[in-house]
Amino acid sequence: MKKRSTFGSTFGTVAVVGGSVIGLGNIWRFPYIAGENGGAAFILIYICVALLISVPIMLTEFTIGRAAQVNSMRAYQKVSGRRRWQGIGYLGIATAFTILSFYSVIAGWGLEFIKESVIGEFMSMDSGQIKANFDAFIATGWRPILWTTLFVIATAFIVGTGVEKGIERFNKYAMPLMFLILVIMAVNSVTLSGFQEGATFLLKPDFSKVTVRTVLTAMGQSFFSLSLGMGIMVTYGSYIRKGRNMFGIAGTVTIADSCIAILSGLAIFPAVFSFGINPTSGPDLVFLTLPNIFAQMAGGQIFSVMFFVLLFAAAITSSVSLLEVVVAWVHEEFKLKRRVATAVAGAGALGLAILCCLSQMTGSSLSIGGLDLLNFFDKATSLYMIPIGGLLVVIFAGWVVSKNLMRKEMTTHGRYGVELFKLIYPLIKFVIPVIIAVLFLNELGVFK
Ligand code: PHE
Repeated sequence: MKKRSTFGSTFGTVAVVGGSVIGLGNIWRFPYIAGENGGAAFILIYICVALLISVPIMLTEFTIGRAAQVNSMRAYQKVSGRRRWQGIGYLGIATAFTILSFYSVIAGWGLEFIKESVIGEFMSMDSGQIKANFDAFIATGWRPILWTTLFVIATAFIVGTGVEKGIERFNKYAMPLMFLILVIMAVNSVTLSGFQEGATFLLKPDFSKVTVRTVLTAMGQSFFSLSLGMGIMVTYGSYIRKGRNMFGIAGTVTIADSCIAILSGLAIFPAVFSFGINPTSGPDLVFLTLPNIFAQMAGGQIFSVMFFVLLFAAAITSSVSLLEVVVAWVHEEFKLKRRVATAVAGAGALGLAILCCLSQMTGSSLSIGGLDLLNFFDKATSLYMIPIGGLLVVIFAGWVVSKNLMRKEMTTHGRYGVELFKLIYPLIKFVIPVIIAVLFLNELGVFK
């Protein structure tokens, strides 16, 4: 069993949890999901879901982890005293593994864009050429595979040697810098011709596009972005010091996460309309719009390099947490050395990632349900696996674990958030399970 370590300062705790939470989900995924689901109305629903559902789930995961003081799979068994609850842990591991595969592909695209920024490749291109250039990159197959492989190796290297010293310290500077760059880009958006259209799209809700599925999508995105439903926050919860206020950590991280997502939207949508890109264009949205902004911006090339380096930094702090969940399990259950476990888990994820790249080549027959594998894994995890993980966690916390244990641990023995607990507990026990279950059954077509 691992020696239990704890996070240092509150800032350190927020930086590590924030490192997992803030990532491609905010910058790459949120804008295209919001674009596909009607913009402003989606964002409103997203914020409600974050407050009503995600924050309580994050607190629940922290609570289970801090009470159990073990890795995520064993935590459920330890807190309940029953073996069968390990199933939640296994589902989480499978989810993290699947996400890691397609996440590495997108992060690999980011690496390609660092290279293209450095040599100024898209600086003189118009939006049509930028799209053609990107499509050609994907179509080669081997170039995305190369970058993805590099990314997985880098992730495995960090996980294999330990996270604290390098990535944590790096993050404390990289995260504020990324925030600054996003603000500059959002401000720059005001000067674009499509600003009004972009701002309207982002700020004026059109509820005619909202369906039950929109809510499920918002929930899937919120869980993905906050790294919920797969035991990552259980593991991190076990590192939170016994005396610390978990409400403060969950609140801060959630607010920061939403702000970064919305800022990305502000940076991207005006450009989407200025350069005639389709807001629903899917996973490549960010990679098509941002180069357009950089090509037009004063000092664009420098910003472009900085931005994609920071995108990479944000991605790797998240992928480390994804790989960690899998490695901890392989390491302990199969009694392999940590480095060997890392190599095995990393190789497996890379295999799946390569399949994602291959399935995106033109004419590839690798697809499931009409989707290429990257899109399929993206949808399968966020619409099904993560919400089920979230559902099981709240059922576990509300109906299996004693209320007394939940109260004591979550409120740090009555020191913080005693009133909030009274509000949150019924949400965990009754409201959230019902909401998730209804959304989910609807998705399966039960109510049709
Ligand atoms: N939350 C991360 C992001 O927004 C992705 C992630 C998901 C990381 C699940 C860990 C677990 O990019």
